[in-house]
Amino acid sequence: MRADELRERYLKFFEGHGHKIISGSSLIPQNDPTVLFTTAGMHPLVPYLLGEPHPSGKRLCDCQKCIRTGDIDDVGDSSHLTFFEMLGNWSLGDYFKEEAIAMSFEFLTKYLGFSADKFSVTVFEGNESAPADKESVKIWKKFGIPDSRIFALPMKDNWWGPAGATGPCGPDTEMFVDTGKPTCSPDCRPGCSCGKFFEIWNDVFMQYEKTKEGTYVPLKQHNVDTGMGVERTIAMLQGRATIYETELFAPVIKLIEETSGKKMSADIGTTRAFRVISDHLRSSVFILGDQHGISPSNLGQGYVLRRLIRRSVRYAKKLGLGMGFTKPVAECIVDNYKHVYPELNINRDRIVMELVAEEEKFENTLDRGMGELDKVLTQITEHNQKVLSGRVAFRLYDTCGFPLEFTEEICRERGISVDKKGFDEAFEKHKEISKQGADKIFKGGLADHSETTTRLHTATHLLHKSLQIVLGDHVKQKGSNITVERLRFDFSHPAKMTEEEIRKVETLVNDAIKRSLPVTMETMTLEEAQKAGSMALFAGKYGEQVKVYTIGDYSKEVCGGPHVKNTSELGRFKIKKEEASSAGVRRIRAVLES
Ligand code: ALA
Repeated sequence: MRADELRERYLKFFEGHGHKIISGSSLIPQNDPTVLFTTAGMHPLVPYLLGEPHPSGKRLCDCQKCIRTGDIDDVGDSSHLTFFEMLGNWSLGDYFKEEAIAMSFEFLTKYLGFSADKFSVTVFEGNESAPADKESVKIWKKFGIPDSRIFALPMKDNWWGPAGATGPCGPDTEMFVDTGKPTCSPDCRPGCSCGKFFEIWNDVFMQYEKTKEGTYVPLKQHNVDTGMGVERTIAMLQGRATIYETELFAPVIKLIEETSGKKMSADIGTTRAFRVISDHLRSSVFILGDQHGISPSNLGQGYVLRRLIRRSVRYAKKLGLGMGFTKPVAECIVDNYKHVYPELNINRDRIVMELVAEEEKFENTLDRGMGELDKVLTQITEHNQKVLSGRVAFRLYDTCGFPLEFTEEICRERGISVDKKGFDEAFEKHKEISKQGADKIFKGGLADHSETTTRLHTATHLLHKSLQIVLGDHVKQKGSNITVERLRFDFSHPAKMTEEEIRKVETLVNDAIKRSLPVTMETMTLEEAQKAGSMALFAGKYGEQVKVYTIGDYSKEVCGGPHVKNTSELGRFKIKKEEASSAGVRRIRAVLES
């Protein structure tokens, strides 16, 4: 079974069980400053898992693009990826364990054809925060999974979430396919990294909320959050030993083989290089080509993107691939996915342009940096030392664009470690000097819905509309990020705003605030919302229910909320900064003063 069929069968199956198919979200979380990327299907649904009603009801399913860079050092083995697609189904205070497991079992065995005696499951063993999940054991047994294939494991294995520092979470039950390989040791069990057991699906019973204090309090509603990995599942269905042998990677691998004249299977080092390049460039293409696509930079998401591209360039060099190799690889990836993710094709030129530009930038600094690093490493070795100073690592980062992890990797190859603490200290000092610290990721709660952020959220709608009035209809939201201190809004506009334009926008927003306009919400289909003249970011599924927020006679926008009840609650709006974000995109930072 190919990925296309798996996605379709999954969504149809859950639709048949009363779920509404919703659109997956952007890879760049909107208005959530606590995380860099969308890491799971549940992520955009956090407010609904906490109890807010979802416009499409209590049973949902979708396919979500995800980025997880915590796994970056594992990329190169048979199953770790930085980008992957997650199929998920949710119960928002509707069904719970019994029905969730029953549907998972039915889908795996009847619709995908996995034999019930091929899979093992894990459950939560319990601790001082939450009891053992005996109920799930009972349910699995009812479906014929014997005790010998049910494993009770601790919190680090069988508890999922929260996605950020706080939020919904709970015990989970994970489903593993036995690949038929021999066990690696007597302790080998699902969760072991030897490759015998392949995790394909996870049912999370989200009945707790982790608080800022680190405690787990029961949630008002019992939710189910599941995630099935598309790449892993089709690899198992196709009887492949690795995900790179599936149709999602095969065309890219073939292209790299043809261009480099090397076979992927030549040796371990070559295999790893092929895997790193194809994984990292796939992630880069999806980040660049996202609805809220961003560019490589030295901060936040842009830094992760830069790291992915530069790491793949470095591995490409090992294969002897020349400058500009990212262009054909990126085009191949776009062509392989455009029928599922049309945004990649829409943004094709930008994706290629940014990749090639970053390749060139890296090339220019690489030789210089490598020369410098080589000199230092030779000196260190001559003096029988084992550590590269954080100061040098930071200089390489700052002047030659070497990400820290990259320097670490080169050092590791020569048995030398890097003083990370020293690097962090040098970085902090640099940030103070250059005042770039404003983009730091907040350590607060996921999807912080405090009064302050809610006010800033409503102000963002007023700003969006005012920008359109002052600059023109071409102004479209490209990104939004809100912390308790400020809003940040990225929008398409070709030129720097003049001082006069900035003042006009401020005045329009403040006039709307002074008029005490009511903020109201209605639920309707996306088509109805568009007909009613609401601003919507991008197309969703036909007939999908969305929330539309109306601010008096001033603005109408499709949005998940939350918002204030009346603009009089906002205070005085002030634009603090207007600057370039990337080509054709401007960025505004603004605050509300009381
Ligand atoms: N949120 C769960 C996961 O990512 C389903 O595994």
